[in-house]
Amino acid sequence: MKKYNIAVVGATGMVGRTFLKVLEEVQLPVENYYLFASARSAGQKLTFMGKEYVVEELTEHSFDRGIDIALFSAGGSTSEKFAPIAASKGCVVVDNSSQWRMDPKVPLVVPEVNPEDIRKHNGIIANPNCSTIQAMVALRPLQLKYGIERIVYSTYQAVSGAGRGGYDDLTNGIKGEPPKKFPHPIFGNCIPHIDVFLPNGYTKEEMKMVNETRKILGDDSLRITATTVRVPVYYGHSESINVELKKPFELSELVDCLKAAPGLVVQDDVANNVYPMAIDAAGKNETFVGRIRRDESVENGVNLWVVADNIRKGAATNAVQIAQKLIDMELV
Ligand code: A2P
Repeated sequence: MKKYNIAVVGATGMVGRTFLKVLEEVQLPVENYYLFASARSAGQKLTFMGKEYVVEELTEHSFDRGIDIALFSAGGSTSEKFAPIAASKGCVVVDNSSQWRMDPKVPLVVPEVNPEDIRKHNGIIANPNCSTIQAMVALRPLQLKYGIERIVYSTYQAVSGAGRGGYDDLTNGIKGEPPKKFPHPIFGNCIPHIDVFLPNGYTKEEMKMVNETRKILGDDSLRITATTVRVPVYYGHSESINVELKKPFELSELVDCLKAAPGLVVQDDVANNVYPMAIDAAGKNETFVGRIRRDESVENGVNLWVVADNIRKGAATNAVQIAQKLIDMELV
């Protein structure tokens, strides 16, 4: 059996460390792993697969040694510069930043949703935004069965989505210290502001959800609006998703359709207070859906509550699943 050389770029970061955990769990057929970060971390030792690995500084020459797949999570500017260098050396990059997501030459992939798009890669495959990934896992089965007319997203996003700085703002805020990462205190608060504001009054995070959903579902005319909110939760994004379907539906059939969907777990038993929650989704690879109910204000509307671990399915798990598909589909 062929064995692969895999690199993790940004191995010391929040997502990077979760890449390592997920890679330990899935056990890909690997010859060698290479861990990269900035010059600040060069020489740092990380225990991985029961072995000590030395973190190397990422340079133009890092990919000169037959690396087959590189999982990048080191920010947009690192991806902008180094992903094309890696690709030019025959490596396939799975990039977690937003740098390449809307490039028409770059597939934007959720493996349960559009795995065939992986075949179109030119050396870079983009991992979607965390909030988009979990929404896609829940919406794709509905799109296939009923068609989708319109989507209204309202998100409740964990501080870990803003990296170490976001996590620290919540921990320090509990102790009464002022925020460093967010523009306002996050402890005891909800901040309707994720990423920067754009001229249309939306945030970049909101427009990522709109544009990435259209690209992944392959429907440029899909009507979508979003409000994204940071909440004082460490791990796990929660989303209220209001969907208008093209065709009428029986609610029980719609629930069965979601139950049969890959990567999705239905948790919906309100009589017993069962619904998805961030504290239960944290540390899991699946996406959870509940509170499934008809929107009685429109013709074919349904409301969903969708929760997933933003660092796992929203980032590391999704990227590792793409790497697994690249290997299974013999595209690397
Ligand atoms: P380092 O730890 O050396 O700064 P987070 O999103 O949790 O802040 O993590 C960002 C990750 O990206 C870290 O592993 C960080 O490494 C890495 N990184 C940041 N800038 C660069 C760069 N210019 N080259 C390589 N890795 C980088």
